[in-house]
Amino acid sequence: MEKRFLPLLFAVLTLASGMPDVQHALRSGPVLGGGVMPMAPKVEADLCPLCIQFTSQAINQLLNIILNAGVVGTCGTICNALAQKTGSQVLGAACNILCDIAGVEEFVKLVEKADLDPIYFCEELKTCPVFDSGDALITKLVVTPATGPQGERLISFDFASKNGTGTGEWRVYIQTVDGIPVESSFLQESQPPGSYNETLKLKAEPDPNCDPTQGPCEQWLPGNYTVEVEICNGECGSKHPHSQVYDKKQTTFVIGN
Ligand SMILES: *[C@@H]1O[C@H](CO)[C@@H](O)[C@H](O)[C@H]1NC(C)=O
Ligand SMILES: *[C@@H]1O[C@H](CO)[C@@H](O)[C@H](O)[C@H]1NC(C)=O
Ligand SMILES: *[C@@H]1O[C@H](CO)[C@@H](O)[C@H](O)[C@H]1NC(C)=O
Repeated sequence: MEKRFLPLLFAVLTLASGMPDVQHALRSGPVLGGGVMPMAPKVEADLCPLCIQFTSQAINQLLNIILNAGVVGTCGTICNALAQKTGSQVLGAACNILCDIAGVEEFVKLVEKADLDPIYFCEELKTCPVFDSGDALITKLVVTPATGPQGERLISFDFASKNGTGTGEWRVYIQTVDGIPVESSFLQESQPPGSYNETLKLKAEPDPNCDPTQGPCEQWLPGNYTVEVEICNGECGSKHPHSQVYDKKQTTFVIGN
């Protein structure tokens, strides 16, 4: 597949995920309901975000297909089975691209070895760069407005990196008054040394579309909320190689007067 086709495929894949606003969300808590979204998602035309996006959506089913098949088939049989199981030709196409990179035996081995960690998988597949002497320091974290009624909050943070960063993620975790965890993670592609900032929009109000059969619905009760931001090499909390928490920082905001 020529590189110029990838942006289109990535765009389709992103839309197919059903969360077009959260293009880099790797994992979202069930209660988010689209509440946390990046203000300016960056769409890259390289294979790393494609691989991560694909793997975040499909590695679970892919592992099931591989374990149930018993024998290693071809990239075609595995990826067709994935397309059928998910009802998504786009996922099937992305699967074929990635499987062809490694060859079917290596691809299957990596799916099993990655233990559902998309970043580690894509690094082992050599579609995402590995860099283990990276660093990041969160120099500022603010929520605005810090106090006020239910409604929109902006969570902004700055970070600085002396050596640059490896392929990883940043994660926002909110400790809520009713104890329902709200969190979201976003791919952080390997970056050169420099200063960076990110802003997330949080809808700190009950989501009218929240489906209580899918998990508890956050009520955003009056009180004190703790926001924790973590920047990591690899997946935050992962035990795999090339994984490390670079830094984390907390702040609070209040719903009420
Ligand atoms: C940053 O790079 C320098 C020079 O290569 C190295 O000595 C240092 O250990 C690196 N920092 C980290 C956090 O790995
Ligand atoms: C955030 O980073 C962008 C570049 O990515 C820069 O243009 C902007 O000035 C920065 N904003 C702040 C508040 O530092
Ligand atoms: C919120 O909780 C934090 C941590 O317990 C505390 O430091 C802060 O003063 C509290 N803020 C308000 C406005 O109560």
